[in-house]
Amino acid sequence: GRVAVLMGGRSAERAISLRSGQEVLKGLLAAGVDAFAIDLCAEGADPVAQLLAAEFDRAFLVTHGRGGEDGTLQGLLEMMQKPYTGSGVAASALGMDKLRCKQLWMGAGFPTPAFEVLTETTDLDAVAARLGFPMMVKPVHEGSSIGMSRVRNTEELRAAYAQAVEYDHLVIAEAWISGAEFTVAILNGAALPVIRLETSHDFYDFNAKYEAADTRYLFEDGLSSAQREALKRLCEGAFAAVGCRGWGRVDVMMDQQGHFYLLEVNTLPGMTDHSLVPMAARQAGMGFEQLVVTLIRTSLM
Ligand code: DAL
Ligand code: MG
Repeated sequence: GRVAVLMGGRSAERAISLRSGQEVLKGLLAAGVDAFAIDLCAEGADPVAQLLAAEFDRAFLVTHGRGGEDGTLQGLLEMMQKPYTGSGVAASALGMDKLRCKQLWMGAGFPTPAFEVLTETTDLDAVAARLGFPMMVKPVHEGSSIGMSRVRNTEELRAAYAQAVEYDHLVIAEAWISGAEFTVAILNGAALPVIRLETSHDFYDFNAKYEAADTRYLFEDGLSSAQREALKRLCEGAFAAVGCRGWGRVDVMMDQQGHFYLLEVNTLPGMTDHSLVPMAARQAGMGFEQLVVTLIRTSLM
């Protein structure tokens, strides 16, 4: 059948989505799949009208962020009875919500850094006393590190909150885990090779993710094989606990003692030429074309 690559959208990650979408479309076409792209919410367009007008049998979703990764688009496709790649409505909504996702993981016994919800009236000194500095400030429903800061004192915390709340009515502060950052791509429920991230930036921010030439992506992860297996099982479990389907990527910190902490699950991870899932797939011997063909099959389930 005909595959529509859905990309763009109105979220803050629109530009990244367009980059991911172009790569996916190229890959599908190269693999001989009958595919075309729809730039959702291109100037003046209504995504519902765009989808109703288009002729396709299934959708390959590459729409990062709110309105594309958060279950709303998935719900529309359910109503249209069009199969789509990746997670369903509920898991997508949870994956886009860092707060509820952390609460779910805590309830299920998975480790995730301590956090506090920040509002206009939060006593920031009390938050500082509980979480300590440095800490991360995050809009709850963003991706690609948009609106995020790492802060060292109460003044920076106040400024970071003001910045994050521009993106989202819900903002959390999260304890900083000093150690190493890892990401684990999940394909059909199973972990791909672990990638260790190293950045000269304050943290793995937007620029380090998509622009910087000095960000290092290491398959030499510095873990023992037992640790690596534990990390993979943790990420597979975290993915399953949220009810995710098909594919995704789980981001994790490890502290100096070797304890892992889940940061988040991405139900629609980046597919740009700088992105991690294609890198992990390549390491597993799976080229980009093979990856996108495998992903389109996830829409059949
Ligand atoms: N939110 C970006 C696209 C990612 O997780 O890769
Ligand atoms: Mg994310």
